[in-house]
Amino acid sequence: MEHKQLKKFPKDFLWGSASAAYQVEGAWQEDGKGVSVWDEFVRIPGKTFKGTNGDVAVDHYHRYKEDIALMKEQGLKAYRFSVAWTRIFPSGRGEVNRPGLQFYIDLVDELLENGIEPILTLYHWDLPQALQDEYLGWESRKIIDDFTNYAAVLFETFKGKIKHWVSLNEQNIFVAHGYLLASHPPAVQDPKRMYQVNHFANLANAAVIKKFHDMDMPGMIGPSFAYSPNYSFNSDPKNVLAAEDSEDLNAHLWLDVYVFGEYPIAALNYLEEQGLAPVIEDGDIELLKSGKPDFIGINYYQTNTAAFNPLDGVGMGKMNTTGEKGSSEESGLPGVFKRVENPFVERTNWDWEIDPQGLRIALRRLTSRYRMPILITENGLGEYDKLTTEKEIHDDYRIDYLKQHVHAIQEAITDGVTVLGYCTWSYTDLLSWLNGYQKRYGFVYVDQDETQKGSLNRYKKDSFYWYKEVIVSNGESL
Ligand code: BG6
Repeated sequence: MEHKQLKKFPKDFLWGSASAAYQVEGAWQEDGKGVSVWDEFVRIPGKTFKGTNGDVAVDHYHRYKEDIALMKEQGLKAYRFSVAWTRIFPSGRGEVNRPGLQFYIDLVDELLENGIEPILTLYHWDLPQALQDEYLGWESRKIIDDFTNYAAVLFETFKGKIKHWVSLNEQNIFVAHGYLLASHPPAVQDPKRMYQVNHFANLANAAVIKKFHDMDMPGMIGPSFAYSPNYSFNSDPKNVLAAEDSEDLNAHLWLDVYVFGEYPIAALNYLEEQGLAPVIEDGDIELLKSGKPDFIGINYYQTNTAAFNPLDGVGMGKMNTTGEKGSSEESGLPGVFKRVENPFVERTNWDWEIDPQGLRIALRRLTSRYRMPILITENGLGEYDKLTTEKEIHDDYRIDYLKQHVHAIQEAITDGVTVLGYCTWSYTDLLSWLNGYQKRYGFVYVDQDETQKGSLNRYKKDSFYWYKEVIVSNGESL
């Protein structure tokens, strides 16, 4: 629908930006930090683009004050970051590593002193390697207690200081890449194990949210889900059904569990039929229902256009991690759906579809089904950027991308959706897990190439100044 006039953004709207520990911090062996599964994984030849790793990343661990000064200059209202579990508990549990915890205490204090609201993500994929070695990490129920104990330390430490918390970042991505595509640690390819791991992650997520509520934490907590709304390729009913199936198996399978504490009927039925359903023990559903989030966090980048895929149809295809446009392969789930190109949208150099209206559709769908406030925890454009000889970065394509997405949010707010805030991905340029440093997302350019050489100096991109205006005008000036 088209509105005659759009509603204004709420006065307390969180204009933010985001990062994750492994992608920015570096200092991978400093101040008692333990080794994470990513610290090990990046050392396996061929796993990441040109062997890039987060050993130094963009050195945020040492430069956080400089980065926060830039945030303050820009007027940023909120900064979403994640805590590296291995800094708090080098072996996943046991004695708290005080210097590691102190880093985050200092970071949070610096943010608060500069008028920036911290949004803390408890888990952004960097599991302690010790837990992987000891009991296969997410493949064991033991992870539930260890994750809850780790979270409780952070709850205790930041009670009253941090109002918005993210439990798990993109559970759907880390289980699929870790246990189906073998492109993230522990590089397994086994759907049965994936759904069992996913069930344990659901339980851990619920346990942590329950803990948050039991501890009477002021504020709100929720998971960040990578949501790509599904479209049908056309009105052919078999394609419409494929899109419904994709929505069920790729979105409701997580979101229904978070919000209702139950798996969606058709999706669970399909998993049972395939012999892939997780073992659900007595008390599991009770735990899931006891850990209802206070908001839904979404990471929105693109939509997914689906068509019917016969039983002998296409399976998992290769992703584009090189930035060579058009190099991604077709992929699908035989007998259910496959992903097809949407002829109505543009694509990035990494073949990600650019679809601002899709964000409005995402916000609308989630609101209708779950009736909860939504925090947009990630959205942004990964592209090549060029530093000119004048040390400027003219990223008008990023401004264009963000502008259209902010407009779509305003339309969704006018539709009646409650949006708490908008965190762009990312604040500074950072390590893109599988795509190296050349795929840049930030408002702040970091001087570093694929061989990880560069001064690591920070330079403000044109989008930095654009977002500054958006924030100061509370979204009036797009
Ligand atoms: C999300 C993650 O999947 O998307 C981020 O939460 C990630 O950590 C971002 O960097 C962009 O993905 P990519 O693969 O381009 O880095």
